This record gives sequence, C-alpha cells and structure tokens, in this order.
Amino acid sequence: MCGIVAYTGIKQCKNILLNGLKRLEYRGYDSAGVGILSVNHSSKIKNPVFEIKVAKEAGKIKVLEELLKDIEMQGVCGIGHTRWATHGEPTQINAHPHFDCKQKIAVVHNGIIENYAEIREELIKKGHIFISQTDTEVLPHLLEGYLKSETNGSLLVAMQKLMKKIRGSGAIVAISVEKPNEIIAGRIASPLIVGTSRDGNFLASDMPAVLDHTRLFTVINDYETVCVTRDKVKIYDSNGKLVQRNPFKVNWSIESAEKGGYEDFMLKEIFEQPYGIKETMRGRLLDGELNFEELNLTDEQIKNLKKIQIIACGTSYHAALTGKLVIEKWAKIPVEVEISSEYRYRDPIVDEGCLFIAITQSGETIDTLAAIREARGKGAKVMAVTNVVGSTVARESDSVIYTHAGPEVGVCATKTFSAQIMVMYLTGLYLSKVKGLIKQENYERIIEELKMIPNKVQIILNNAERLKKIADETYKYTCFLFLGRIYGFPMALEGALKLKEISYIHAEGYAAGEMKHGPIALTDNKTVVVGVIPQDFVYEKMISNLQEVRARNAKIFAIVSEGDKNIEKYADYIFTIPKTIEELNGILTVIPLQLYAYYIAKNLNRNVDQPRNLAKSVTVE
Ligand code: AGP
Repeated sequence: MCGIVAYTGIKQCKNILLNGLKRLEYRGYDSAGVGILSVNHSSKIKNPVFEIKVAKEAGKIKVLEELLKDIEMQGVCGIGHTRWATHGEPTQINAHPHFDCKQKIAVVHNGIIENYAEIREELIKKGHIFISQTDTEVLPHLLEGYLKSETNGSLLVAMQKLMKKIRGSGAIVAISVEKPNEIIAGRIASPLIVGTSRDGNFLASDMPAVLDHTRLFTVINDYETVCVTRDKVKIYDSNGKLVQRNPFKVNWSIESAEKGGYEDFMLKEIFEQPYGIKETMRGRLLDGELNFEELNLTDEQIKNLKKIQIIACGTSYHAALTGKLVIEKWAKIPVEVEISSEYRYRDPIVDEGCLFIAITQSGETIDTLAAIREARGKGAKVMAVTNVVGSTVARESDSVIYTHAGPEVGVCATKTFSAQIMVMYLTGLYLSKVKGLIKQENYERIIEELKMIPNKVQIILNNAERLKKIADETYKYTCFLFLGRIYGFPMALEGALKLKEISYIHAEGYAAGEMKHGPIALTDNKTVVVGVIPQDFVYEKMISNLQEVRARNAKIFAIVSEGDKNIEKYADYIFTIPKTIEELNGILTVIPLQLYAYYIAKNLNRNVDQPRNLAKSVTVE
C-alpha cells in the first residue's frame, strides 16, 4: 500500500505534492519522491522543451522535504509517491517515480505487478535497461514501447494497452514530456480518485492528500483509465469508451478522511481485511494452482523436511499455532511452536532437516529477532513471514514471505493477523502438494475455498452492527473467557488478547477441554464465555463445554456457522459466520472476535489505536 498524489493546474506543484504526500504518510513511509514537468532552461522561450525533474529519497517524507529545500523544481504538473515497499528494499533507487530509458516518461504506482518478471525479461531482450529492483519499473518502459507503435503517440492509448498486459493490482499514474500539462492514469484494484478544482485537477490514492484544495471527488473504477488536464477530466472504460461520471462532495475533516471515514484506524483496518487477504493471495494462487516459489525450498528439500519450528510473539504466535494445525494435517510434517522470548534463552537444539519459521508483522520484534539469531547461529535456515519489506527480520532471514496486508497503524494487529493466517494456509497446502500427500480433488476444493475467503470475510463485516449490539449488552462484565478447540483454539487466544489489550478487561483464552482442570472455578454470573464453535468435528464437545459453564450462570456468546439451529438452546448471544471447510474456519471466526473487542472497548471510551502501555513494534525485551 503506497500513497499517490498528482496535480496539473495553474499553481506551482512542488509544495502541493509534498503536502499531499505528508497527508498520505499513513499509507506508506519508507521512501518518497516527486517528479515535476519543468521547462529545460537551455530551450527557447518561444518553443520550450520540457524535462521531468525527479527528487526521491529513502526514509520518511521529512527526508524528502529536506532534499526539496535545496532543489529548484519549477512546474505546474507533477506526480508524487510515498512508498510501502513490496518488491525491492526501501532505497533511493527503488523509490518512485520511475523512468523509461530516455527519461521522458515518469510513473508512480501503488500495487503489485504479478507478471513483472516475465515483462522485464521481454523488455530486456528489446534493449530496455533497468536500474531498480521494483516491479513498477516495467511500467514506464512498457509505455515507452507502446508509444513507438500503434498509439499515435497517445500516452492514454499506451496506458490502455498496458492495462491489458499487466496482471495484478495497481493505481498507475504517468506523465510525459510530450504533453506537459497532462496526467494519465489507470486503475486495477488499488484505490484512485480524481479531485477537481478551479485552479487545477488532482489524482490521489486517498482524499486527505488534496482536501486542502478541493472537496469534489470522482472515483476511478477498476480497469478504467483517465486523462487529467488543468481544466478537464476524461474517464474511459476498459474498452476505451468515454464514461460520464459526476463528482460528489465530501465534508470530512482531514483526520477522518485519513481513517477512510472510520472512527479509528483499528476499525478501518478490520474492514480492510477482504482486500488485505486478497493481496496476500495475489500472485500465489494462480489459475487454480499454488505458486509459492518464495519459500525458496527445492521439492527435494521439502520432501526431506523432518520438522518445522515456528517462533513468534503475541498475535503472531496465534498465527503460528494455526500454522501448526494445517501443516501437520495437510503436509504431515511435525511442527513445534514456541514463543520467541522463551526460545532465545533455553539453549535450543537445532535439528538437521528442520525448517525454522519466524512470524512477525513488524519485522522488528526484538525477541523474535534474537531467536532468529540464536537459531541461525546454530545452523538453522530461517524463513520469515512479515508485513514489512526491508525490516530487520526480513534482512536477517534466509528467505521471506511478505504478507502484503499494507501498513497497519493501529497498535492492535488485525489485518496483519488474517494475512499471516492466509500465509500459513498457503504454506501447509503447498508443502502437502509437493510431498504428493493430497488428492487433486481435495487440493482443488481447498483452493476454491481459499478464493472465497475474502467474500466471506466481507459478509461478516456487513453484519458488524450485530456485534456492536452484543458488545453494548455485555461490556460491563468483568471476566471474559474465550473457549475453542483445534482450529478454534488459537482464535480463542486471539479474541482474549484483543479484548485485553484495547479494553483493559481481564480475559483469558483457553482450549475448551482445559476448563475442567481449573479455570471453570472462575465462572459465575459475572462471567461472559465466548465460544468459538463453528461446524467441525469437535462441535459436540464444544457444546458440552458451553453447557458446563452455563450451568454456573455464565452468559454465553457463541460464534457459529450459518444454519446452526441447535445453538439457540445453549447461548444467550449468537453470531453466525459463513460456512467453509473446517481447516479454514479460523480466519473467519477471528473477524467477529476483533469487532467484538473493538465495540466493547469503544463502550468503555478506550483509545483503541494507542492502548495504554503498548507499542506497535516491541523493540525492547
Ligand atoms: C497484537 O495486537 C499485539 N500488539 C502484539 O501482541 C503483537 O502481535 C506482538 O508484539 C508481536 O508483534 P510482531 O508481529 O510485530 O512481531
């Protein structure tokens, strides 16, 4: 997830772009850059020749701001970008904008080009030279190629051809020296809006970038292209036909616009999960097949794997527990899961034939990092699962699987968790396939189910009001027990953690079968028991456990699969999730748990984005 802003009009654009990027910093902040169409000083006044001046730097926007103080960049048309790295580390060279060979076209991009490697190969054969490690750099080179043929020199037509060539997601915005007042853009899956004003027009990933200048917006839809000049906006559908669309007006403050109109980043990020999960699957689930080369293991190495060891902390640890369940079930490889802070101090044994996986959304958690160093020091090969490209864990591991959930601002891990779980599903299924342990029919069925997960998550989100109502009726309770078995157990732990960290209410997650070994003594009429009880092979056992706590006067809130009529006899509050296969229930059951914790915390007036005593990256022991 990156941020884009572009302007063409009658005002100097350097500060418009810079201020727009500052407003988008929540979308990505590892490097930033601007490109501005400026008159080449050596050209004639009557017949000016334009060039694209680019300034870009690694680091936060303030680094770019410092750089721009020393650079003269005159011009009224330009593009800007703040990056959240996906391909290539956050360096000056990988920062956007990117150029074609002759530096006549500059492009900024938000998204992932899945087929960039093959396009790059094709272009290299045609003589194009690449200087960055990004997927984005193929875009200006493709445009350059198309402009040479069948486009009549039209950057718009070239963009339309490009949109048919690439696979993946992208908001792509381009400028060219040939038309110094024109910006051309296209969109596939990544957000892109047009803002209109009397002094010029804008393109942006999100409204806050330009709310200081306009409140009139038009949304660009998937596969549309748009040509923006200082006084016109022309939108085209995927067939190149002109589309009529009237702008709408917004009254949001800049602060609420940053949160996409949601009250908090946490709520926004919970609602972003269908998109985040799709991004995690992107490029890895193709035409009914799993493509998971990033694992960086040969088929031979996979077949010889004797054990997998996963380490993580907090929410990431719960993703690891889900990983254990699906890897053992599908790939029949024994998996040990351990909390990083324990692993690092216990003089662990690293077995030969063991794959070591470290899960950390931030990539900076010191305990996980120390555990990785300990394991590598003893000869382990480490695969990291992280959301942050170029993070310390990513750099210090042998291979990396990026979750691509986009930056998470709320301290509470929500969308990064569902993305981690998706990576665990993909890993388990891939290992099983390579080992030849899964029947083709079952493999295809699981892939079909995986593809439906984002829509099913959306169905749950559409029913958020129901969770708010349950939270309104239960937030005054002082003891919460979250129970689950097998796939529901890590989610019970996660539900309890979410509630603890943002509401400050005491909550515990338990394997439901453990209740009778102690915790049941806690239950009385001041307790809420949240049962994670979707349709699966331990359903009946869960029902018995709920009956046991109900007999002790606890209030029961059950999260069940749709169509479960039986549960009404046992629960005071019910929330239903769409059906899926039992191994995948976890990713669906955790969404209502996140929302439930959120609404309870809001009832208690807590700061859910920055809960007390917590930090987003835990870089101390
Ligand atoms: C989750 O909501 C917490 N903020 C916390 O438990 C977190 O998951 C933990 O600190 C691990 O962080 P990491 O994934 O960045 O390593």
